Amino acid sequence: MVLAAGKGTRMRSERPKVLHEVLGKPMIVRLLESLWKIERLQLVIVLGHEHRAVARTVSRAFPRRRPRIVLQREQRGTGHAVATALAELPRGPRRVAVVNGDLPLLSGSTLEGVVEAHGAARAAVTVGTMEMADPTGYGRILRDGEGRVTEVVEQSDCTPRQRRIREVNAGLYCFSRAFLERAVPLLSSANAQGELYLTDLVALAAREGSAVAGVPVPPEELTGINDRAELARVERSLLERVRDGHMRAGVTLRMPETTWIDESVTLERDVVVGPGCMLHGTTVVETGAVVEAGCVIRDGRVGPGARIRPYSVLEEAVVRRDAVVGPFARLRPGSDVGPDARVGNFVELKKTALGAGSKANHLSYLGDGEVGEDVNIGAGTIFCNYDGFSKHRTVIGDGVFVGSDSQMVAPVEIGRGSYVGSGSTITSDVPPDSLALARARQVVKEGRARALRALLEGRARAAKRPPGGRDGGRRS
Ligand code: UD1
Ligand code: CA
Repeated sequence: MVLAAGKGTRMRSERPKVLHEVLGKPMIVRLLESLWKIERLQLVIVLGHEHRAVARTVSRAFPRRRPRIVLQREQRGTGHAVATALAELPRGPRRVAVVNGDLPLLSGSTLEGVVEAHGAARAAVTVGTMEMADPTGYGRILRDGEGRVTEVVEQSDCTPRQRRIREVNAGLYCFSRAFLERAVPLLSSANAQGELYLTDLVALAAREGSAVAGVPVPPEELTGINDRAELARVERSLLERVRDGHMRAGVTLRMPETTWIDESVTLERDVVVGPGCMLHGTTVVETGAVVEAGCVIRDGRVGPGARIRPYSVLEEAVVRRDAVVGPFARLRPGSDVGPDARVGNFVELKKTALGAGSKANHLSYLGDGEVGEDVNIGAGTIFCNYDGFSKHRTVIGDGVFVGSDSQMVAPVEIGRGSYVGSGSTITSDVPPDSLALARARQVVKEGRARALRALLEGRARAAKRPPGGRDGGRRS
């Protein structure tokens, strides 16, 4: 049973707590990914606050799973959540594990360990416990003289002395079903928060003489997330794990504490990632490639030996072997930069393939295009791909030289080996090996600079003279 009905007041958010993301993934999705690794698990999820949004996220993330969802309309405490879900438990299982929904780092094997210990101890209640340097916010574990767990006391119900106890309830339990069904109706809300506490079942079991087991669980998996500061801390520890994994596998991370790497990202051997990079989604960086400082890559592929220079942004883009991109380049979805090609500063590509060895080094927009091999795209070239209604393609053959500041008014095709003069506005196809010039012919008037200067100077002086004079009016 996963308890995820609460609003998460301490997050101070419009969004339900379990939908807040930890390293790019909602908490609840992380938890369910771990739980569904357990065999023969039948899952019941208790939802309440914003239940539609949570259910939608769950079914999108796990389209083939059909967990039972129970609605807890009013959130009257963790005990009340379990009470609401009891009626919906599938027939059969004799043990019920309960997990708080705000534990995104919990592993399936830790929960299995708690369930096993529960079986071994023939307990009515088994609770995962951990030692915290700072136990603030957690329920404290009370033990008797023989070290048996007797009670869990919530933070707000603790005496000053109990507050100093550092062993806490991790938020992960296993119950014998018979005990749960018998004891849940006995819960009372006579406590500081006026809620039904699931944790009171521990004292109920101990008092009736049933076995209670406390099982140590790893705190690094069970830090509960109640506010955004805790969320950031959990995220940081997860990131640290991801980065360490990559470094141990042969990746160099420069100033690793500044890089963000989703777990879904693949980095091959001898990849170097500079400070402040963010690598997201299905991004793959192949062997020996270098991603320099401040790059953001989402669902991109960087080929072997390629170099992404600082502050470039790639989204669903491919950069092939030994190509160089950036600094300050933007590769939008559908960009494909060929082997040994170059994309320089302030160049934007969208749905454009740049062939092997081709260059677009400065200040260009290449959208909906196909550029052959060994093409030179001069500075300031624009593919005019959009007419306000539809997008059109620009096709440039192998070996073409496009002079600076040219516009390709798509749809248009430049045949292989052609030469486009600088400043051209190309509106019709150019056959192979041609020279295309589409700009006004230059006019030179020798000596006219001096005369022009004299004229302009005279005008400027006239404009400064006080009005009313013979010459004071404006001249054309
Ligand atoms: C809870 C435990 C505390 C433990 C801590 C571990 C109780 C009373 N306290 O405290 O002993 O140390 O977890 O992290 O259980 N929920 C519902 N319905 C409700 C109330 C809560 O589904 O009516 C869900 C929440 O969405 C959340 C989970 O239960 O996912 C835990 O609730 P939360 O308010 O975070 O409990 P804590 O105060 O952290
Ligand atoms: Ca919590």
